[in-house]
Formats: sequence, structure tokens, C-alpha cells
Amino acid sequence: MSLYLNEQILKLKKEKNAIILAHYYQVSEIQDVADFVGDSFELSRKAKENSADVIVFCGVRFMAESAKVLSPEKTVLLPVKEAGCPMADMAEVDQILQMKREHPKAKVVTYVNSSVEVKAISDVCCTSSNAVKIVRKIDSDEIIFAPDKNLGSYVQEHIPEKKIILWEGHCCVHDRITADNITRMKEENLDVKVLVHPECKSEVRKLADYVGSTSGIINFARESKDDNFLIVTEEGVLHRLRNENPNKRFLSIRGMTCKNMKKTELEDVYSCLVDMKYEIKIDEDIRKNAAKAMENMLILGSD
Ligand code: 13P
Ligand code: SF4
Repeated sequence: MSLYLNEQILKLKKEKNAIILAHYYQVSEIQDVADFVGDSFELSRKAKENSADVIVFCGVRFMAESAKVLSPEKTVLLPVKEAGCPMADMAEVDQILQMKREHPKAKVVTYVNSSVEVKAISDVCCTSSNAVKIVRKIDSDEIIFAPDKNLGSYVQEHIPEKKIILWEGHCCVHDRITADNITRMKEENLDVKVLVHPECKSEVRKLADYVGSTSGIINFARESKDDNFLIVTEEGVLHRLRNENPNKRFLSIRGMTCKNMKKTELEDVYSCLVDMKYEIKIDEDIRKNAAKAMENMLILGSD
């Protein structure tokens, strides 16, 4: 069945000049059929730099919206309408505007895990792979950082000279991990190297051998001389890690599953290409303003 669906998807992709972009948290079958799998930053760049007419975005809504913001001339499809990111819903426009009034000198740096409306009132966006670089480069010593308080505190630890005003948002998959979870795994697996996503709490990051985005974690494991790792992010990254490093061992923490990322199945990608659904539509004024913040990220976030 999956072989048949794969063939049909490839055929439809050709007919419609479509490209499939997928995040590392997607189920294995989706990662295998995708033209490109990456972290949020790489996916944003890929959404802008390709010659397809249609982008099928296998991820969550804010990622597909970001693709549309950067490539307005393309049709961007999200195969499952309900695939959202709860963290992105934790910051609303009125609340950010209120915060801006309270801190008139501050610039707003918004994690891409946010709504397009919030991006539109931000100075610059960032992802987990470039947040430190962007906050360091932005010409302000006072930053409102939304919505992830954990990524914000990670940035603050790296840039103590700037004042970072943290938002109270978090990712339920990463934020529930405790230092205790890590120490117990380390006691049972003595030589394990701990690779952590910055959406985890500070107490967890402190126990890490490496902190970085999903791609950062994958690159670190590939290049490392060690062969035993504890992966502290959503379990979808294990697919790439195990395929690329058959002789290394990857442990994970039970329950690190993003329900929203797992909503998309191969059948949804197929129907999405047949019926051209669900198309991302964004009000043009909002899109243009969000594009400024995202373009600023691509400029400041690149080397
Ligand atoms: P990355 O930018 O590391 O891919 O992370 C996205 C995300 O949603 C993490 O929960
Ligand atoms: Fe959002 Fe967390 Fe899922 Fe990432 S893992 S998409 S931050 S809920």
C-alpha cells in the first residue's frame, strides 16, 4: 500500500511541479518521500529557494505559513488542516502590543513557532539554530523574546549583556523533561553523550554535551567520534540519526512525541496533491510585514 502511495505521490508531484518539504519530526514514511527534510531554518530557506509551483509542507501550520510568507507566488499546501503548534498559540498580537507599550525601547524577536500575525508585528524572527546569533546582531540591548521562555533563557545565558524580556510560552513536549530524567538515563548508560534541543528547561540543558536545533543534533552525532547518544528532542529525529549512523546507538526519552507533527500520514500527502488542499492563505498586508521579519532572519541568521 505504502509503495503504491509513494508511486502515486511521485507521479502527482511531477504533474503539478510540486516539492515536498518535511520536518525531522514527521513520521518516517513522510521523511522518506520528501524532497527535502530539515530543521525550521533550513526549511524556510528551502521554501524561498526552489522553482516548484506547489509546496506541500509536511509539518505544522506555522511552518507552512512561513513558506507562504517567503514564497507568496507559490501554492502552499498543509496536508492536515488541524496540525498546529500549541506553543505558537501561546502569544497573541494584543499581548505582544501591550508588552511593546511597556518596553518602548525593546525590539521584538519572535521564534518562528508563532502565528503569522505575531510575526507581522515583530522586528525579526529566529529559529532554534540562529536565535543566539540574531539577538547578538540586532541593534538593541533590550529584547522582547516570544513565545518560548526556554529558548529565550538559553539566549540570555549566551548574551548576559543584553536584557531579554521573556514570554511565558513553552513546548509541552520539551518542557516536561526534567534534570532527573536525564541523570537517571546517564546512571544506566555511563558513557552516553546527551544532545538536547534548546526548547528544554535550563536544568536539562545544563546536563547536555551539546545543545542545538534538530539539524544541529543530527550534524553533531554524525561528526562525533562517540557512538552512544541520548537524544533529548522529539523522537522523529531518530529516523535520520539511525539511518545515517547504523553503528551508533541512540537512546531517547519515552513520550517525547509531538502529536501535531504525527497527524500527517502518507494518505494525507496523496489527497493533498489530488485535491490541492489545504491551501495556506494570508492577508497580503500581514504577509508583507511578516516577510520583513522573516527576511531579516535570513539576512542576520546566515553566516
Ligand atoms: P527545529 O528548528 O530545531 O527544527 O525545531 C522546531 C521545533 O518545532 C522544535 O520543537
Ligand atoms: Fe510545537 Fe513542540 Fe511540536 Fe515543536 S515539538 S511543533 S514546539 S508542540
